[in-house]
Order: sequence, then C-alpha cells, then structure tokens
Amino acid sequence: MKFTDLFRKKSATEVIKHGDDSAEHQSMNKVLRVKDLTFFGIAAIIGGGTFSAIGNACFSGGPAVIFLYIICAVACGFTAMCYAEFASRVPISGSAYTYAYVSFGELFAWIIGWALLMEYSIGNIYIAFSWSGYFTNLLDGVGLHLPEYLTINYKEAHRAFIDNKAGEGLTAWLSAPQVNGLRIIFDLPAVVINVLITWLVYIGTKESRNISNAMVIIKLAIIVLIIIVGVFYINVDNWHPFMPNGFGGVMGAVSGVFFAYIGFDAVSTLAEESENPQRDLPRGMIYSLIICTVVFIILCLILTGMASYTLLGVSDPLAEIFKIKGVKWMLFIVSIAAVVAMSSVLLVFQMGQPRIWMTMSRDGLLPKRFASIHPKYKTPGFATIVTGLVVGLPLFFTDEKFVLDFTSIGTLFAFVLVCGGILMLPQRTDDGVETKGKFKLPYVNAKWIMPLLVLVSFGVLQYFNPTYITDVFHITADNAQRNIPMLIFFILCLLLSVFSFIKNLSLIPVLGLLSCCYLLTGMEAANWKWFSTWLAIGLVVYFCYGFRKSKLVKND
Ligand code: ALA
Repeated sequence: MKFTDLFRKKSATEVIKHGDDSAEHQSMNKVLRVKDLTFFGIAAIIGGGTFSAIGNACFSGGPAVIFLYIICAVACGFTAMCYAEFASRVPISGSAYTYAYVSFGELFAWIIGWALLMEYSIGNIYIAFSWSGYFTNLLDGVGLHLPEYLTINYKEAHRAFIDNKAGEGLTAWLSAPQVNGLRIIFDLPAVVINVLITWLVYIGTKESRNISNAMVIIKLAIIVLIIIVGVFYINVDNWHPFMPNGFGGVMGAVSGVFFAYIGFDAVSTLAEESENPQRDLPRGMIYSLIICTVVFIILCLILTGMASYTLLGVSDPLAEIFKIKGVKWMLFIVSIAAVVAMSSVLLVFQMGQPRIWMTMSRDGLLPKRFASIHPKYKTPGFATIVTGLVVGLPLFFTDEKFVLDFTSIGTLFAFVLVCGGILMLPQRTDDGVETKGKFKLPYVNAKWIMPLLVLVSFGVLQYFNPTYITDVFHITADNAQRNIPMLIFFILCLLLSVFSFIKNLSLIPVLGLLSCCYLLTGMEAANWKWFSTWLAIGLVVYFCYGFRKSKLVKND
C-alpha cells in the first residue's frame, strides 16, 4: 500500500468521456430540462425546514431572523456556484462525490460519498417523521384518528414515559399492544410514505419527474395563497422589537435555517438524466435557490408580522398563525401544502442517494450490484431498494432531533469540500485539454480583497465588541464548545488570506468555503462526536473494500 494511492484522482476528461461513450450511461433516460431541474431544486428545498423549522427560527431571532436566511442564502449561493461549475465541467451522476474524486482524490471522494449519505438518507428520515406529523393532523381534520402508538417512534414514546411527560408519547406508551413484553410502537405513516416513495423512484425517473413537478406547482400555489391571505393580517407593531434576542438569538437558529436550504445540490445528481447537463444544471440550481430565498424571507415577514415572534416556537407555525387569527379554512390548506411539500423533498432525496451509490459502484468503491440498472425501468433498482431500507429501518429506533443535526453537519461538510475542490480543480488536464464547462464561475482575484475583507471584519468586530476576539482565545471548560470552533475559524480566515495573496485564489469559492465553515462553528459538540464516529466507520469500510477494489487500482 502506497500512501499516495489514497489521493489517486480520476481525470475530469476521462470522467466526461466515459459518461458520453459508455453503454451503461446511455441506458439512463435523458428526459430532464432546465425547468424540470429548477422544479427538482425547489422540490428538494421547500419542505420540513420551511413548514416546521421556520417557527423556531422566528422564535429565536424575531423578525431579524431574515438576516440569518440571507446569510445562509449567501453561503448556499457561493456553494451553488461551485456546484454549478463542477456540474458543468464534470457532468455526471455522483454530485460532490465525483467532484471530490477529480479534485482531491479517492480518499476524500469516499469521505464525501459517506457524508452525503447523511444528507440524502438520514435527511429523509427526519422528513418522513415530519411528514407523518402533518399527515396525522390532516387525517384528524377529516375525522380519522390513528392510535398514538402508530404515529410516534419508539424512542420518543419511551422517553416520554421515563420523564412522565403527559402528551402523545406517554399515551402511546401506555396504550400500545404488547407482544412478549415488547410494546408495538412505531410511526406508521412515516414507514408507509417511505415505501411509497421508494416504489415510485424504483419504477422510473419520468414518472417521478411528473409527480415531482405537479407537487412543486401545488406547494408553490399554496405558499402564494398563504402569503396573500397572510398579508391582510399583518400588524406592523409585531415587527418591533426587530431583533429581540440580539444577534446571538438570530444565529441560534442556524441549524434549522440551514436545513431549509439543503436540497439545491441534489439537482447535480441528475446530470446523466438531463438533456443538456452542462447548460441546464447550473441554471437549475441557481434559479431554485433564488426562488426559495425570496419565499423564505417573505414567509418570515408574514409570520412575524401576523403574530408575536414569542408565539411561533411550535412545530407547525404556518398553521399556528392562522389558528391564532381564527382563519380555520386555511388550517386544512396549510396541512395539505406541508404534506405535499415534504413528499416532494422525500422524492428528490430518495432519487439522489441511489445515483451517488451507482457512481461509487462504477468506480469500484462499492459492490457492482449498486450500479445495476433495472432492464425495464432504467433506474438503479438495487441501490434504490437499499436506500429505502436505509431510510426505513432507522424510522423504528431513531428520533427527529438527532437525525436533523446529523443531516446538517454532514451536508455542510460536503459543501466545504465542494468549495475547496473548485480551488483545486485544474483548469487543464495533463494533456493540455481545457476542462472548462459551459458555466464558468466568474473569476475575481482574491489576492487583495480577501486579506482586506478579513482585516475589515476583525476591525469592525473589535470596534463594536472589543472583548469578543480576545475572549475566543480564553478557552475554559464552559466555553470550549463555542470557542474552539471559533478559534479554528479565525485561523482559517488568516490562512485563506495568506493563500489568496500568494496563489491568486478565486474569490467566490474562497467565500463559499469560509461561509460554510462559519456555519459549521454553530454545531454542537455532540454533533461533532457523532459525525467523527460516522467518518471513522466510513474509513474502516473504505480500507476493507474500496481501497482494494477501486478501478484506479486496476488501471495502475
Ligand atoms: N430543505 C429540505 C427541507 O426543508 C431538506 O425539508
């Protein structure tokens, strides 16, 4: 084993050539256009984060939480530009995984593939749980009541019992039937929606696309309705105070707000099913991101304008505000929108995961079966079923908060590598061919701008909060969780300034890298622990299988 083997790279030109020539690649249906890709982006973005997490975000930050949406939009925007350039230059399934393979080498590619599993599969576990919550409300609305032990996960019910906390969990625990002493408690709607979505993805892209497009139209129409009706109930007094809990309160919601943006990158996993990926993928991602940012900001203003931010810390804030205002007919409509929105997110993520595995399998990093295409449906059938199981089985023993944090940290990690990857992607291949795609990231030399920006930011920080910077250097047991990531972030700022100066780095990926790293500093220590364990398991799997079976080994 040579150490350098860990960083063996795929050549961008080879990847593109193989994508064009191979019979395997030809067998995917190329049916998606820019409108479909934009719709796919929106389908993936507007879901649980928009209908649920937005409430706690407003509660924590007040109306000023729109700043956090803007900060996250900027971070995601820079990252989307990097994704777009990658997708344009390496237009093939696999998303950030493939991009890491051509820029950082195999080990990083594996790590990113492993981290993406959190975004797509683990993210879907959270969304399936949220979907079930709204769906159960909807059933209640039409007089159909599912017993509590069939609408909650076992862990939550058990916790409610231990804490003796009255509510759905305790009722579920006490009323559940038992088999050999084991209580039958599971989230039935979450399990059923996962089976349905898996089946839909299994039977074909075209069918999934049609359903996805229809769902996006429905959810956008209902969101527009919520906005139009909501405007009439705005009381501008509710916007004062604008930032009730200071900037700390605004930043306190970072995990949930970032989750709301996750999804635009899923578009890049559809490269092989796009008619003209080099032109359409970048557009699809950026259009969907812009549309969703506008929607989020308007929704925040409507929510905080209709009711005091103090009333919004609930899991169904859009329904809550209409309840507060006594607009009963909107409750049912909001629940339908939430169910539809989350179904489309589930669908997009469930399509993304098998396609990443398919690419990893083609590279030899996963067993061959993951790349097999169903002869009739032309979809990666085996990988789709495994995805269904990876989402479905944990539904029986995990809880929502854990999977939400896990998803956010894994996705941010992937975004950091994508931005970093753009900085490392060569403009030309070894044989001198330009790898430039049809979308070119605007090049702004960071040489002077970056050091200046860092200097000004530190200066402004020092001026407005003279103790902030020195406090970060005083690490104690109490503040370590906040100060250590911040200190690392400061060091990163300085390093990137130096490298920008020496190497004339491109400003957009540098800012993308920094903004995503800044968001990562908001993650709790427990998340980092779980994430590190997850990566360690991934490395063991890589060294036991992928490292030996990689296609690049055979080519050496
Ligand atoms: N952005 C997606 C959602 O909010 C993950 O559901």
